[in-house]
This record gives sequence, C-alpha cells and structure tokens, in this order.
Amino acid sequence: MAVLTKPLIGVGFIGVGDISILHARAVQKCHGAHLVGLWNRSSDRAAQRAREFGCSVYATPQELVNDPAIDAVFVLTNLETHLEYTQLALQAGKHVLVEKPVGVSIAEIEQMQRLAQANDRVCMPGHNYIYEASMNRTKELVEAGDLGKIVSAYVMYNIHHPEEVAKRYPGVVRQILTHHSYILLYLVGKPVELCAMKATLHYKEYTEEDIAMVQMRLENGALAHFCASFAADDHAADPWTVMVKVIGTAGSTRYSYRDHVEIKPGLVHSQTYTAYQGSIINEVKHFLENCLRRGEAPLSTLADAITAQKMIEAAEKSIAEKSVVQL
Ligand SMILES: NC(=O)c1ccc[n+]([C@@H]2O[C@H](COP(=O)([O-])OP(=O)(O)OC[C@H]3O[C@@H](n4cnc5c(N)ncnc54)[C@H](O)[C@@H]3O)[C@@H](O)[C@H]2O)c1
Repeated sequence: MAVLTKPLIGVGFIGVGDISILHARAVQKCHGAHLVGLWNRSSDRAAQRAREFGCSVYATPQELVNDPAIDAVFVLTNLETHLEYTQLALQAGKHVLVEKPVGVSIAEIEQMQRLAQANDRVCMPGHNYIYEASMNRTKELVEAGDLGKIVSAYVMYNIHHPEEVAKRYPGVVRQILTHHSYILLYLVGKPVELCAMKATLHYKEYTEEDIAMVQMRLENGALAHFCASFAADDHAADPWTVMVKVIGTAGSTRYSYRDHVEIKPGLVHSQTYTAYQGSIINEVKHFLENCLRRGEAPLSTLADAITAQKMIEAAEKSIAEKSVVQL
C-alpha cells in the first residue's frame, strides 16, 4: 500500500452518536489530519455535531466517500450497519477505522478483510483499550518472558449504564466482552476453551444481560477471567472499574481506569475516566500517523477481530447450552 504523504489527511465520520465526540477530539489532536465532514442518519444531529466539530455535512454517505478531500472514513454507527458503511468506504478507495464490535458475525468481518485487501486499503478495528502505554509495556514484558510463566489474566469492567443508554447497544456480552477479548489476545493469547454465564439484574424493561462472566483456559496453559457489568459501579477501595491484570511466576502487571479520574460526567459515565478519551486519541493517532503515513500495522487487526468474535460466539453458545465450549 502506498503511504499518504499529503500534509493534512482528510477524515470523514459516518455516524455521529456519543462515540464521535471522543473521535472528533482525537482527530483534533493529530496535527497532520483534520475532520472534513460527516454524515448521520438524522440530519438534525448531523447539523448539530458539524457545528460542534467545525466541519461540513454530507447529504448521503455516498457523497462523503466520493469526496476526494477525504482519505479515511471512521465508521461510528451501530453494530448492525458497520459492514454496509465499511464496504462503501473501502470500495471508494478510502481507509477505514471501524468501531467495535466490528461485525455482527465472523463472515461480516471476513468480508471486510477481503474488501480491504482487494482495494489495498487499511481497515482497522476500533480496539482502543490496547492503545495505552501501560498495555504496551505489559505486552512487551509478557513477550520477553520477563513475567516468567503466565499463570492468569483478568479483565474486569464495572461501569453503571442507565437503561436508556444500554438500550442502544447489544447486551454486555457483545458490547463489552469484545473489548475484553481483543485485550486478552493482545496481551497473552488465545483461549482454547471457555465457559460463560450472564444475568439481567438491573434493568426494568431492557431484556439483554447487564452482567456476564467468562472463564477460559488459554493456549499457553494459563487461566483467564472476564467480568463485564453495566449493572453497578464499583465504589469500594481500588475499584474494578476497568482493571486488567496479568500474573506470571516472575512478575505481574496492572492497568486501571482509576489511575486518572476527573470529577465530571464523561459521556454516559458518572465520572470522567481519562483513559477512555486517552486510548481513543492514541488509537486514532496510530491509525492516521503510524498506519496511513508509515505503513505500520494496527496493534490489533481484523484477524484479531475475527478471533474476538469467535470468543464472543463461543461465550453465547456456552451460555445457551450451559456448557464448556472448545475454540
Ligand atoms: N470503543 C469504545 O469504547 C466504544 C464506546 C461506545 C460505543 N462504541 C461503539 O461505537 C458505535 C456507536 O456507538 P455510540 O455510543 O456512538 O452510539 P449512539 O447510539 O450514540 O450512536 C449510534 C449512531 O448510529 C447511527 N445509526 C443507528 N442506526 C442506524 C442505521 N440503521 N443506519 C445508519 N445509522 C444508524 C445513529 O444515527 C448514531 O449516529 C457502536 O458500534 C458502539 O459499539 C465504542
């Protein structure tokens, strides 16, 4: 793929819901890029966000991807439409950053992979959590063997989401355990078997799960545990708001959202966890500056998104059958 050499990379957003606010701030932090324009299904929201972000509005997604001023498209819509807009952008010759979960099925993500290859363009999953120095250091330590034999890994998420917010998403298995899956793949490796459970404890009308847990045996013999909950914040000392631990025979590491907290609401969160915005800034910089300008690979690829989706579907099967599922 030819790298981009123009002074300013042009970015377009398809979909401008909550997450677009963090992506707009991230693009602003990239000196060699700017947000050219956006499209959103409802034109009122499109006009409002365009005023906030200082960019133009396109009448259709086709018009956006056809604009030669745009080099890279961020697909920020709901999960069910990711493939449609990713396909549109790749076929128009644009590079794509697509939010997670990347696709509804393995087949959808494989199709994105084929389209990216056929059009010689980057299609990077929005796997933001791993674009953090502390995560990168953990990976280096694991890979160098400095933590000894890895015995366990934990990814915990306990962030209360009001019912009206949760209703816009699938349950926590797809919406949140996707993060856990690509984090585990990046830091430690693949599971060979897993079992999962879920419950709906907090919502009155919304019937999807608001808590889920997964136990796994990994390829390297270690065990791993995931917890994802929209049901309650963890208020206790050293809370597991978002907590990632890797424990080895010769050392261990910890990453916590609670390392940096600002006392003001952060989108749908009761407080601002600085790492949320920070990881999206790092992710967007990696996409625009490392991948598009220098030809480097994403830290987590569509192949990883496919493996993450296999983990999610295995968890769903385990829940449905009350069984241990082999991957
Ligand atoms: N990386 C993260 O940490 C993170 C956090 C939150 C959301 N997300 C992901 O970002 C994406 C958007 O989430 P959000 O929080 O902004 O949601 P949101 O509900 O605030 O916005 C959803 C957007 O999708 C659009 N949309 C919905 N149905 C559509 C359709 N049929 N056709 C075209 N557009 C449609 C809406 O107009 C809106 O722009 C989702 O894939 C979500 O999983 C990622």
